[in-house]
Amino acid sequence: MKFLKKTDSLIYSLIKKEDKRQNETLMMIPSENIASYAVEEAVGSSLGNKYAEGYPHKRYYQGQSNVDQVEDLAIERAKKLFKVPHANVQPYSGSPANLAVYNALMMPGETLMGLSLAFGGHLTHGAPASATSKYYKSVQYQLGKDGLINFNDLRKLAKKAKPKVIIAGFTAYPRVIRWKKFAEIADEVGAYVLADVSHIAGLIVTGVYPSPVPYVHVVMTTTHKTLRGPRGAMIMVTQKGLKKDPDLATKIDKSVFPGLQGGPHINTIAGIAVALKEDSTKRFRSYAKQVVKNAKVLAEELKKNDFNLIAGGTDSHLILIDLRNKNILGNTAAEACEAAGIVLNRNGVPFDPNPPFYPSGIRFGTPGITSRGMKEQEMKKIARLISKVVEVTRKTKEKLDITFEQEKKKEIRRKIVQQALVLKKIRKEVLELCRRFPLKKVY
Ligand SMILES: Cc1ncc(COP(=O)(O)O)c(C=O)c1O
Repeated sequence: MKFLKKTDSLIYSLIKKEDKRQNETLMMIPSENIASYAVEEAVGSSLGNKYAEGYPHKRYYQGQSNVDQVEDLAIERAKKLFKVPHANVQPYSGSPANLAVYNALMMPGETLMGLSLAFGGHLTHGAPASATSKYYKSVQYQLGKDGLINFNDLRKLAKKAKPKVIIAGFTAYPRVIRWKKFAEIADEVGAYVLADVSHIAGLIVTGVYPSPVPYVHVVMTTTHKTLRGPRGAMIMVTQKGLKKDPDLATKIDKSVFPGLQGGPHINTIAGIAVALKEDSTKRFRSYAKQVVKNAKVLAEELKKNDFNLIAGGTDSHLILIDLRNKNILGNTAAEACEAAGIVLNRNGVPFDPNPPFYPSGIRFGTPGITSRGMKEQEMKKIARLISKVVEVTRKTKEKLDITFEQEKKKEIRRKIVQQALVLKKIRKEVLELCRRFPLKKVY
């Protein structure tokens, strides 16, 4: 980065610090991953200079000979990898992509049915704070007490609400999603099913997680999570979707551009094409298998240490833990883990008695640490370290006699973390682990 260093030493030094932070901590936020240098190079290339409003071979500007080929390649690779007849690779990210799907399938005021944010749905699945619940009538479903989707309840709600679109695919759901069940209910009420596979796309294309493609009408995915590409998204239409509405592909394309977006980010689209090429290799399949294997080992080890795993474990890359039996808030656990070099996020749990800003749980996953080459042995060690962090944090909180109300204050949590001296020792162990598995960007 010699040019950046000379032009803007401040931004240069912040990027260098971020490189160091990523290298010296465990990236365990399940929506994050480490894209390859090849992806980074495509995203940082001259393609970012080009305006290309429209679609390949139907643009509104001149000078498209190269970018048309880039977008064609990305589309072809997406279609082949996901086994779908149509793909749109232009959405800027997952949130606008979901809105583009709704805009294609519904008129304002029509009904959308998604999993509530508090139970693991995404904001854009109709959460009250999201524009998606202002433009559309949002009906939200919940999980059962067992942390799983209750299809009897879902059917009852769908029959009553008569949604135009049902969303399956979530942000914090560790188990396999039964796509066929969603399809049956949607067919009964005449709704479209959108599978939002943002979190699990990399597991789906490698066959380590069931694909929704035979059952749903539209599939949306971000490209920067388990697919390990740049920040972006894709919308795909299935055969079943085209059967329900032969114009569906055209409607989706028109909704993305000119419906919601202007010029596509061709540099990102090139990065997506590169990632999709990487994703189609045997090596990536082994990676995806290891992601799930690692998550399962981590889950089993944590259960041995009396952690309460939502839905009893995981079939994917992510784990959601209810910390109420550990007597600390998700905030405190996440901040203590960060002090120890384990970066994860606080999260609500089903039927959480606490508000979303002070939730009872934590959520973490294995895509990032598996990209570094970590395997079962390291998962056992990480489970031990997370258990230790939670234990010393709880003990320190109890020793300081801090109530839940007090724990909501940032300065109080800071005091707990500072006084839990063992965290410094754990930080050293994490650093040693990170040094044994340096961040790998070479695919
Ligand atoms: C299931 C799901 N859908 C959509 C999104 C939105 O993606 P983005 O953050 O790229 O807008 C996310 C992001 O976390 C997600 O988990």
